[in-house]
Amino acid sequence: MPLPLSQQSVEQLGGEASVLARQRRDHPELDRLMHLYESPGPPRSERQEILRDIFQLTFSHAFAEETVLWPALRRFAADGEELTSRVEAEHQQINDLAVEIQSTDLRDPGHDRLVTAAFALIREDIRDEEDVLLPRLQEALEYDRVRLRRLGSAWETVRRTAPTQPHPAVSRRPPGNALAGVPLSALDRLRDLSAPSGSGGRWTAAALAAAAAAACLACAAALRRRRVGSMYRR
Ligand SMILES: [Fe+2]
Ligand SMILES: [Fe+2]
Repeated sequence: MPLPLSQQSVEQLGGEASVLARQRRDHPELDRLMHLYESPGPPRSERQEILRDIFQLTFSHAFAEETVLWPALRRFAADGEELTSRVEAEHQQINDLAVEIQSTDLRDPGHDRLVTAAFALIREDIRDEEDVLLPRLQEALEYDRVRLRRLGSAWETVRRTAPTQPHPAVSRRPPGNALAGVPLSALDRLRDLSAPSGSGGRWTAAALAAAAAAACLACAAALRRRRVGSMYRR
């Protein structure tokens, strides 16, 4: 088994564009934001914005893993099914907790308890990926820099257009997640834009109509160019 990602140089990971290096850039950013939220400094409204940033990064990052990386791991590694089932269960728990957090009043003492539980799971997920799943993927792809870079650009493409909110009812696997992801992403990103600072945002009829139109356009565009699966093939 290769070394954990934290013990490898960028060169060993396959270069800056490799999926391993890209993952290792997102994980510390998540950790930084979680520490910022936990620090005693920020006022409550600012902490809510930090939490929103954490969720946006977590869910777009995880959606791209579920759509691009874990199918590749199942395809190329004999133990891929077992490994990815575990991390998908972690992602599911984080989705469930995030929905609970979003529906719990900030002043409710249960809110902080739920956030603590979600952060613990995000940190466990990062450890599992950096220490086990991603080194295993590196090995299964035979340390091939070209394949690691191709997978990296496929993952990045999906991450940039992925849903940014929790969706616990959506499948964690293709094709269910990929089909639901396009309209959900359009709705989530519109909601992110319309959310006032420190609140969950309010939907107007005009915003909903714009979201529906954006979702339809995104669906049509995705149907024309959906070739993500072929990007990591040999
Ligand atoms: Fe990750
Ligand atoms: Fe993950």
